[in-house]
Amino acid sequence: MPEVAQQHQLQILVDALYEKHRGTTDGELATYIPELAKVNPQDFGICVVTAGGDVFEAGDCDRPFTIQSISKAFTYGLAMDEFGADKVLCHVGVEPSGDAFNAIELHSGTNRPYNPMINSGAITITALLHSRYGDQTFERVLECFSTIAGRELSIDKNVYESERRTGHRNRAIAHLLLNFGVVHEEAEAALDVYFKQCSILITTRDLAMMAATLANMGCHPVTGRSAFSIAYVKDILSIMFTCGMYDYSGQWAYRVGVPAKSGVSGGVMAVVNRQLGIGTYSPRLDRFGNSVRGTEVCIDLASRLGLHVFDCVNVGSNFLDAIL
Ligand code: DON
Repeated sequence: MPEVAQQHQLQILVDALYEKHRGTTDGELATYIPELAKVNPQDFGICVVTAGGDVFEAGDCDRPFTIQSISKAFTYGLAMDEFGADKVLCHVGVEPSGDAFNAIELHSGTNRPYNPMINSGAITITALLHSRYGDQTFERVLECFSTIAGRELSIDKNVYESERRTGHRNRAIAHLLLNFGVVHEEAEAALDVYFKQCSILITTRDLAMMAATLANMGCHPVTGRSAFSIAYVKDILSIMFTCGMYDYSGQWAYRVGVPAKSGVSGGVMAVVNRQLGIGTYSPRLDRFGNSVRGTEVCIDLASRLGLHVFDCVNVGSNFLDAIL
């Protein structure tokens, strides 16, 4: 009898979750960037990558989509690496805002954006990078994202043009930031870089690899290359944990319990510290702006694998075991 290779437990689970959720049609496509409304609403991919680089996936994991707000986690890491935490904190706080991601508001006491995962904070971070790299800023961002993904990425010019043409709200935010001196004079040029960074094309597999790079302390699990210092991974993950899923962040922390970031094109990236990167793509969004199927898959993965940071199967720090 020929030996039948046994499927890995994680592959069996990923396949089962794909089958469980593939029929869900709840949610709506984002349409405020006209080009985003042209995607196939049925597209659905789930990919899990271990911190050692093993890949488990199901569905449309090669389908390209734009990274959108998930980019904010990585530009924040790049800015922390470039300027250090003290300077970055002078420009952008770390508090959840309790308001929409595109709110035209700043913290009333400090006139700073609340955090880097909302548009005002992310535009400020990109402006900081622009103050250092000038015309080379987007190239620097693209190079950094490519290192994190482990392959050369590029942008979707149609989505970029579409957002540039219609991004009046972001333009208002950039000018509010300029008014309070939070960003430098070239706010328009920085905003253009922000539109481009949101238009970088990735696949579900890229997204899971990028998450695995964060899970692996900033070092890509396959190439071994680092995009930013290990010291800032903790900061990025903390802000993803508290602010990464819009106004659903509290419920996400309660139900899933791992740091995550979503984007309006339908991507969700979740990070299980030192263990796994999770990437999902499904463009129909719930009322918070998060992918419906992406959220459901992450809830299921967390409960099936005991991923929640406070789950009873997470036994805590080996360091304490060693010293007590
Ligand atoms: O700024 C925008 O509206 C988009 N480029 C990104 C939006 C997005 O994914 C929302 N995230 N928080």
